[in-house]
Amino acid sequence: MLRPSNSTSFAPLSGSTIATPADLRREIVGIDTNVPLLDGTERRYVFLDNAASTPALRPVLRCIEEFVPWYSGVHRGTGFKSLLATEVFDAAHDVVGGFVGADPATQTVIFMKNTTECVNKLANRAALRPDDLVITTLMEHHSNDLPWRRHCRVIHLGTLEEGRPDLAQLQRLLKEYAGRVKFVAVTGASNISGVCTPVHEIARWTHDAGARIFVDAAQLAPHRRIEMLPDDDPGHLDFVALSAHKMYAPFGTGALIGPAAFFESGPPDAVGGGVVEVVTLDHVEWNHPPHKEEAGTPNVIGGVALASAVSILTSVGMDVIAAHETALLEYAYEKLAKLHGVMLYGPTSHFEDKVGVIPFNVGGKHHALVAAILGVEGGIGVRNGCFCAQPFVKHLLNVTPEEDHRFTREVLEGNKSNMPGMVRASIGCYSDESDIDALVEMLERITRGDIHGKYRQDRATGSYSAEGFHPDFSRFFPYTIIRPTGVRRHSEAS
Ligand SMILES: Cc1ncc(COP(=O)(O)O)c(C=O)c1O
Repeated sequence: MLRPSNSTSFAPLSGSTIATPADLRREIVGIDTNVPLLDGTERRYVFLDNAASTPALRPVLRCIEEFVPWYSGVHRGTGFKSLLATEVFDAAHDVVGGFVGADPATQTVIFMKNTTECVNKLANRAALRPDDLVITTLMEHHSNDLPWRRHCRVIHLGTLEEGRPDLAQLQRLLKEYAGRVKFVAVTGASNISGVCTPVHEIARWTHDAGARIFVDAAQLAPHRRIEMLPDDDPGHLDFVALSAHKMYAPFGTGALIGPAAFFESGPPDAVGGGVVEVVTLDHVEWNHPPHKEEAGTPNVIGGVALASAVSILTSVGMDVIAAHETALLEYAYEKLAKLHGVMLYGPTSHFEDKVGVIPFNVGGKHHALVAAILGVEGGIGVRNGCFCAQPFVKHLLNVTPEEDHRFTREVLEGNKSNMPGMVRASIGCYSDESDIDALVEMLERITRGDIHGKYRQDRATGSYSAEGFHPDFSRFFPYTIIRPTGVRRHSEAS
């Protein structure tokens, strides 16, 4: 049961004072947190890893805090708190549907753990046969590639210059395999290059070929307005998935939005409590979506947090956020382009169709070393490696098949020290020029060789650590668990 997008909101009822990206920045939890540096000083943490996970918005925390006294299991309780929690949780689904312009009459919103779980559900529920085809792209996160590979043949659309999908090849493939292609599964925006795909154009071709489109909106949803469009519009999006932890509500919820009729048919992929209308020893009658697809006790607080976050983003305006981030990218690339020895990947100008992801390398330096220096000497949080998109990153780095084989063999032998990769700085709606300035200043230092620490690489993980940098985490977070000496996790055992 969805309501029109403009009728259900989790924005503070008393009227929000958050109207601009600068307001959003003030409301980011931990925006002024100091972190320790190698030289013994502390500085404000510069968070440039928003493409991985964003910090929380304070109004989202306030919403949760106000909800928690009313928290109760949903849907089957009869007490007042259960009734209230059910009302709020169901409304949270409506709010998220409204955020992507879902049609309340035909679409359902299913809360899952994250985008990965959403894609797995969709692939599990699509009744694919081994000789069916799914077309995805080389630029996908593994989450929008591997789930499909388990069920049928997957064709990876190539990319052109700057990492843009080869749309002419897509049209050829859709013609060549018409009738066999069941899904075109594309990312809304790349987590490597930031390139946004023209999803409505792709949707039209996909529908013409009798297939359905799935848009992985994990990177798109935090940065751009999404309109699924009415079902009778040839450019409509059939399925969309997103993750709350990339949208300022890191409390364990993702959402899969798609046609209710699709989920009405066939059994759910996960079964248990909540998914049934009636059960006898030899018969099961399934509930309707979304309940049918949300097996077990749902993450009620996570759902409320996501609804709160998207309400705040909507009240500021996704177009306002997009314009702010585009201007910040322009600012960043103008400065980065002047740094000798810094290689930039993907689009370096015209950012209207690029979200705030900045992939780079520093000549002569391992990507993991650069990331470690930025963290330990600059207090800057970035990420390095292949970002769960190994085929695409290796493609952008021109890794040959022979090199790829060698890296794979080395990894299997427990050596990740040569794995190719990049460093990725990524901005959010609250980022500002001071964050970019901090990054550029540190990169200038690194390119000049002004590096103070001695760094050692761990062969097994490929990561670097600075000699003598052993911060006492419990000084920053008093609940840090102290492990008895000698106890190692299974993952740490060699
Ligand atoms: C484009 C894209 N798709 C899917 C995912 C997976 O998201 P999650 O880890 O929330 O499941 C990510 C995460 O980085 C992503 O960037």
